Amino acid sequence: MTGAPAEQLIWVPKASAIAREAGARLREFFSQGVETEYKGDVDLVTVADRAVEKLIRTRLGEAFPEHGVYGEEGTRERMEGEFRWYVDPLDGTTNFAHGFPQFCVSMGLESRPVGAGSDEAGPDEDGTIVAGVIYDPMRDELYTAERGRGARLNGKPIHVSRIAFLAESLVSTGFPSRKRHDSPNIHFYHEFTLRSHGVRRTGSAALDLAFVASGRLEAFWEFNLNPWDTAAGILLVQEAGGQVTDFAGGAFQLNSSEVLASNGLIHDELVGLFKDMFAGRNLSPIPTPQEFAQQRAKRASG
Ligand code: IPD
Ligand code: CA
Ligand code: CA
Repeated sequence: MTGAPAEQLIWVPKASAIAREAGARLREFFSQGVETEYKGDVDLVTVADRAVEKLIRTRLGEAFPEHGVYGEEGTRERMEGEFRWYVDPLDGTTNFAHGFPQFCVSMGLESRPVGAGSDEAGPDEDGTIVAGVIYDPMRDELYTAERGRGARLNGKPIHVSRIAFLAESLVSTGFPSRKRHDSPNIHFYHEFTLRSHGVRRTGSAALDLAFVASGRLEAFWEFNLNPWDTAAGILLVQEAGGQVTDFAGGAFQLNSSEVLASNGLIHDELVGLFKDMFAGRNLSPIPTPQEFAQQRAKRASG
């Protein structure tokens, strides 16, 4: 997708201005430092998350009075309409709270068949993401896309990378902040580490997806994400020429909570790896800490 002229974009111009204003607020909070609360376990929230969601909700209501808003910090407005924004006002809260400069604003617009129902509980499987905006306020990088009209970074068309093998790829993943003990992802992290140039754990799923779209990463996967994490980023990847599926290579759905995004060229290889791993095949053994300590003691004594 090379991209339609910017003047043909329908939602991106207004949404970009909102994301930039929201990002500027995040930058202010970031430089002041903010107190952190726990939503549960290690799931953090700050005054910035709430204040910026409120700002985005207000601005979206002004710019698109018919559109619904579904935000991570609890916003549920006009859920019965054809269009609905999935909003993560601050993706990367843990980074933000620690002063680690990797976080963003993410806004993805879903179009749903009229009469699909109000579905207060979550995304609708019949919906399609038609626009996405991700703003990284620390780098002043604005990623935008509309379906069928290409993806851009600060107004310039972007494309996924052309690397064709996992062995030559840089990839990324993340770990949930809830129910951490139920996640098998550390096994995948290990396996991908051995088979690629490396795995990054950046702490912002939306930016990871934007980095796949702009060719800085070849792939990203994560278990248990929410629609506000993925809505904008998956469209960016698709419009930049990449592929997004579930772990089995099936159609990605906002409510499926698993995402596998890549430059497309390594996608089959990734799906094959997931298949092997779920079947317990071709896993690479590593020493346990105890085995390692025993080997170390042996070396020291001999
Ligand atoms: C988190 C980030 C992180 C991912 C977590 C998400 P939040 O979002 O995207 O990279 O690993 O699963 O919950 O809580 O910072 O908005
Ligand atoms: Ca998030
Ligand atoms: Ca968030």
